Amino acid sequence: MKDRLVALIEQALETLTANGTLPADARRPVQIDRTKDKSHGDFATNIALMLAKPAGKKPRDLAEALVAALPADPAVARTEIAGPGFINFFQAESWLTDQLEAALADPHLAVPRPARARTVVIDYSSPNLAKEMHVGHLRSTIIGDAVVRTLDFLGHKVVPQNHVGDWGTQFGMLLAYLEERKDEDGDQALSRELSDLETFYRAAKRRFDESADFADRARALVVELQSGDDYCLKLWREFNQVSLSHCFAVYERLGVRLGPDDVRGESAYNDDLPKVVADLDAAGLLTEDQGALCVFLDEFRNKDGDPLPVIVRKAGGGYLYATTDLAAVRYRAGALGGDRLLYFVDQRQALHFQQIFTVARKAGFVDAHVEMEHMGFGTMNGADGRPFKTRDGGTVKLIDLLDEAEQRAYDLVKSKNADLAEDELRTIARAVGIGAVKYADLSKNRTSDYIFDFNQMLSFEGNTAPYLLYAYTRVVSVFRKAGLSLDRVGDLDGGFRLGEDAEQALAARLVQFGEVVEQVAAKGQPHFLCAYLYDLAGLFSAFYEHCPILAADDEAVKTSRLKLAALTARTLGRGLTLLGLDPLERM
Ligand code: ARG
Repeated sequence: MKDRLVALIEQALETLTANGTLPADARRPVQIDRTKDKSHGDFATNIALMLAKPAGKKPRDLAEALVAALPADPAVARTEIAGPGFINFFQAESWLTDQLEAALADPHLAVPRPARARTVVIDYSSPNLAKEMHVGHLRSTIIGDAVVRTLDFLGHKVVPQNHVGDWGTQFGMLLAYLEERKDEDGDQALSRELSDLETFYRAAKRRFDESADFADRARALVVELQSGDDYCLKLWREFNQVSLSHCFAVYERLGVRLGPDDVRGESAYNDDLPKVVADLDAAGLLTEDQGALCVFLDEFRNKDGDPLPVIVRKAGGGYLYATTDLAAVRYRAGALGGDRLLYFVDQRQALHFQQIFTVARKAGFVDAHVEMEHMGFGTMNGADGRPFKTRDGGTVKLIDLLDEAEQRAYDLVKSKNADLAEDELRTIARAVGIGAVKYADLSKNRTSDYIFDFNQMLSFEGNTAPYLLYAYTRVVSVFRKAGLSLDRVGDLDGGFRLGEDAEQALAARLVQFGEVVEQVAAKGQPHFLCAYLYDLAGLFSAFYEHCPILAADDEAVKTSRLKLAALTARTLGRGLTLLGLDPLERM
C-alpha cells in the first residue's frame, strides 16, 4: 500500500510540475508513514511540508493542490488535510478485503496471467562435461531454476536450454585416456573409473603432460572427432553420457527441473558454424586479422580506444565459444520461437554476451522485438573471501557440498527433536539442508559476490531457509490444532475483518505477492521474493502474538483470522515452491 501511495503522489507531483505549480527542481523522496491514531486515516505523508519552501507556497495550499491532482484509486477511500499540511489517506477496507477474498479463492492466488505470454528461452546450469559439476555451477543452476518456476507460474512459455560444454580440445585428451583404460581394464572396470570424473580428468591430464605419444594420440583424436569419425564419436558419446548422468544426479538432488530434453550442448551447433561465419560475411561484418576472422565493433573498445574484435574463426580454421553462441542465439530466436532470451551465466562473461547480442542484432540473427539479457552473477566465496575451495585448495564438487549440507541439517534437526522417526528426520534434513544451500544463494542480490557459510545458512534466525520453512510449519499447525483442513478454509462463513494493526499490516503485505513475483520474472532476481517471504513471516509472527486465532472471543473474528492464516500459509508455501524449496508440514 505504501508503494501504491508513493506512486500516486509521484503522479500528482508530475502533474503539478507540468502545470507550473511546482518548480522543476523541487523534488524530495516521498515518505509515507502508518498513522498511530486511526481517526487520522491509515497512512500520512509530509510531502507538502517538505516541498512548500522550494515551491514558495504555504504548506496547506500545496497540500490542497496535491490532493486535487491525485489520480483516483480504488484502494483509497478518501484523503484529508491535517495540521500544518499533512495529507492523510483512508484506505478502502473493502478494496483490501476483496483482494484477500479473491486470492484465497484462487489456487493461483489471484496473480493475473500476463497480457502477452512470452516464449522465454533460459540458458542455465550449462556445465562443461569434461569435469564434474563444481560449486561454480551452483548459482546458475538454482537461480535459473527459480526464475523458470516463476515465469512458468505466471503463465509464460519457458524453454530451458542446458548449453553444456561437450566439445573442444580437452575431449581429445579424455578420449585418448578412455581408449587406453579400455584396453587395460575393459568396459566394466571403466565405468567404475568414470564414476569419479574429477579423478579421471586429472589422470588424463597427467598422461597428457608426461607422454608425448599420448599427447599426439589426443590431438589426432580431436581431428578425427571433428571430422565425424564413427569410432571417435562413439567414445565421445559414451563419455558424455556418463558425465551427463552425474549432472542429472545433482539436479535430482537439488530438485532442479532439468532433464535430458533440455540439453542442447555446444556440439549441437557444429554443423551450423560455417554458415554463421558465411552469414556474418554476407552481412559485411567480417574483417580478416592475421588469418583470423573477426567482427570489430565500435561499441566495444580497449583502454587505448581501439575496437575489440569478436573472433569467430581462428587462423587454423577452428571455431570458438563466441561462434557457437551466435549459432545458439539464432536457434533460440528462430527454431525455438523465443522472444526473450535469458542467460544465467557468471558475471565474468558479461563482455562476451554484450558482444554476442550486438553482433546477433547487426547480423539480423534476431528480430528487433526479441529481448536478450545476460543475467550475470557474482562469485560464491569461502570464509576467507576468496573463491570457495577445498581445504587443500581444490575445487569443491557440488555433490560433496550437498552431502555435507544434508548431514549438518540432519545433526541439527536431530539435536532439536530427538523423537523424530529416522525416515522423517531424513526428509526434513533434506528439505532443510538442500533448502539452506539454495536459499542462501537466492536471497542475495545475484550480481554481488557472497560468502558461503554453513552456520549462517542453517540458522533458525534471520533470512534463512530453516527460519522460513519453520514459519510455514507454524502457520499450518494452526489448522492441525483446529482440526481444519487448509483447503476447507474457503468454506468458512464470514469475511475478513481487519480491526488490529497487525492484521492490517499482514493483509496489506499478502496482497503484494503478485507484484513481487512479477518483479522476480522481470529482473531475474529471486532475492525480491526471499525478502518478501521473510517479511511476511515476520508479520505473521507479530499477528500470531497479538491476535489470538483459535481463542478469539468473537466467532467472526476467529473466522477472519483463520482465513488470514490460510492465505499466509498458501502464499508462503507457493513462494517457497517458486524458489525451489520444499515446504514441510512438520519439522
Ligand atoms: N559452459 C560454460 C561455462 O561453464 C557456460 C555456458 C553458458 N552458456 C552459453 N550460452 N555460453 O563457463
